[in-house]
Amino acid sequence: MAEIVYINGQLVPRSGAKLSPFDHGFLYGYGLFETMRAYSGHIFRLDRHLARLRLSAQSLGLIHSILNVVEGKQSLEVACLVTLEANKLKDARLRLTVSAGEGNMMPDPCTCSHPTVLITARSLVAPPPQKYESGFAAILSSLRRNTQSPLSRLKSTCYMENILARTEARAARCDEAILLNELGYLAEGSTTNIFLVHSGELITPSLGSGVLAGITREAVLEIAGSANIGTLERQVEPKELLEADEAFLTNSILERMPWTWLAGKPIGTGKPGQLTRELLAAYRELVNETLQ
Ligand SMILES: Cc1ncc(COP(=O)(O)O)c(C=O)c1O
Repeated sequence: MAEIVYINGQLVPRSGAKLSPFDHGFLYGYGLFETMRAYSGHIFRLDRHLARLRLSAQSLGLIHSILNVVEGKQSLEVACLVTLEANKLKDARLRLTVSAGEGNMMPDPCTCSHPTVLITARSLVAPPPQKYESGFAAILSSLRRNTQSPLSRLKSTCYMENILARTEARAARCDEAILLNELGYLAEGSTTNIFLVHSGELITPSLGSGVLAGITREAVLEIAGSANIGTLERQVEPKELLEADEAFLTNSILERMPWTWLAGKPIGTGKPGQLTRELLAAYRELVNETLQ
């Protein structure tokens, strides 16, 4: 079956999707995106993904072009669901990209009048179960998150730093690269949020540490809160990692991945910890509840 993509209000075969060579998302990275996971045809927390996108658009000043022009004509929620359906997918990875659209050949979004909305969906490819048993090995990236840069809080189409960090991880034969911020505190992984477990308490770098407000991060904090597990969002020193009992990484596709090694040194026992396992089970329960 031909892959179907959603572009600017239409579902078309992938080969028929046309993007302008003057799209400012492509030319300058002036765009935003969301990566979402669908379970049995249901997109987990689609409303929150869209809320994050809208908030980010607002903070970029893209509010008029994106929210008013796009959402006046098409519901992004419906657009995501019809893309999933058109591809006959149940368990899938979806990407919604919104850019300022076509403009002049200068980095000035005032010249863009029609934003681009692109939605793609593919069968989910999750890490193999053995990965969840061994956990991720990570390195500390040489790159730093800048807490003063809006880019550290946005899921923007400028992913160059994340890609460079991931390239460092691949070169070190590791699964993920962890970025500190300019103050030397832990921020996040190249595509993940960070959690540590210390004496039964769950610790995660605060949003002010220069991290994306992950949808999975938020769900994990909610789950922990309702299970009476103490949670702390604060500045975290890198040395706390090697003192932690457990650690894990989150994103919409991985859900919750044990993080067991840092730069060749074990975190905790070097094996997935008990609380990490329990939180994954609780996360899957939450996903199942939303399917009913
Ligand atoms: C830099 C970064 N941080 C955190 C996350 C986790 O976000 P979410 O849980 O919304 O998928 C991602 C997701 O890709 C990311 O790219």
